[in-house]
Amino acid sequence: MEKPKVVLGVSGGIAAYKACELLRRLTESGHDVRVVPTASALNFVGAATWSALSGHPVSTEVWDGVHEVPHVRIGQGADLVVVAPATADVLARAAHGLADDLLTNTLLTARCPVVFAPAMHTEMWEHPATQENVATLRRRGAVVIEPAVGRLTGVDTGKGRLPDPGEIFEVCRRVLDRGPAAPDLAGRHVVISAGGTREPLDPVRYLGNRSSGKQGYALARTAVARGARVTLVEANTGLPDPAGADVLRAGTAVQLREAVLEAAADADVVVMAAAVADFRPAAYATGKIKKRDGQEPEPVALVRNPDILAEVAGERARPGQLVVGFAAETDDVLANGRAKLRRKGCDLLVVNEVGERKTFGSEENEAVVLGADGSETSVPYGPKEALADVVWDLVTARLG
Ligand SMILES: Cc1cc2nc3c(=O)[nH]c(=O)nc-3n(C[C@H](O)[C@H](O)[C@H](O)COP(=O)(O)O)c2cc1C
Repeated sequence: MEKPKVVLGVSGGIAAYKACELLRRLTESGHDVRVVPTASALNFVGAATWSALSGHPVSTEVWDGVHEVPHVRIGQGADLVVVAPATADVLARAAHGLADDLLTNTLLTARCPVVFAPAMHTEMWEHPATQENVATLRRRGAVVIEPAVGRLTGVDTGKGRLPDPGEIFEVCRRVLDRGPAAPDLAGRHVVISAGGTREPLDPVRYLGNRSSGKQGYALARTAVARGARVTLVEANTGLPDPAGADVLRAGTAVQLREAVLEAAADADVVVMAAAVADFRPAAYATGKIKKRDGQEPEPVALVRNPDILAEVAGERARPGQLVVGFAAETDDVLANGRAKLRRKGCDLLVVNEVGERKTFGSEENEAVVLGADGSETSVPYGPKEALADVVWDLVTARLG
């Protein structure tokens, strides 16, 4: 079988050296990789490195090997183009359709999925020009993964760091697995909550639940690969941030509500996969609650937490916004799920049976996805990413 053909575009950012690791991962996993650096990129890592690691000649301009018409052929033959790192400059040139070097010509001739992994200083990333260019590229169907937060060039830290090459590789693998179809969540903003809230009782104790957050993270990773701008609101998961998603942190149900409502303001889809505590202790003891000799502990009084799913579904932040809920049930799973779907007013409800060894913390899941339109989709036991993809299939079928 022919190896999948990948074009690795490298532009002139300090993170260009990390693209060597991405290149290795791609070649070692059976991809035929052609590296197309910009002239600036060669100031950071030389042509010899790209050529030796890829096994292909390397050029930055359209004028080398003209008899092979490389400015057209490289893009036409690709199954995937990934630009990592993508500078502010290359994003601008791509968004405006410029074709002044081999990489931008390739971007215009490619008809396969294109992934950009931007990396730059926070100010450059946040500049309205860059943000508009990114929005344009996403609207046209490119997968633009959000930069990570962390150490930048020199002593600065902030948003703009190139995600770990292994994570970019995983995004590429998922995009390639989906085949030549255009990413169907491109241009969409999705908000996903994941994990379990912890409701403090005193400075050392809390009421919590057993949700690991793995299903929410699987939804985030698959949505990135399908081209969405992803905001993940995580509660107490301890999991590494998924590449390409904006991650917000919340501890309690009240904090999660605030973060979700703010992020949902311009979202096309909100998926509430987090296990949010229904109740919290009525009072918080500022000092540790002590054991007293001969005394039984005071009962813990509880109060209700806000019902975030019902609130998001009931007052849609924008017309056409889709809301997906999750229901973890221990008995009468489907009947309880149908009742919950009606009560909450969401568009889709993913119902799964939970128990001691089921679902929580596991890498696999099985579920039934109920639709407000009466549909019922069974997802057999399998990886949480497979269930996530079924949820996105149902979502994209319902998005206007
Ligand atoms: C040391 C150094 C580091 C740079 N790092 C970045 C970067 O991380 N991201 C970026 O967008 N531009 C960065 N630049 C600026 C780009 O190299 C410059 O905009 C260049 O024109 C980009 O060209 P290209 O997009 O054709 O590769 C850096 C420049 C220098 C000198």
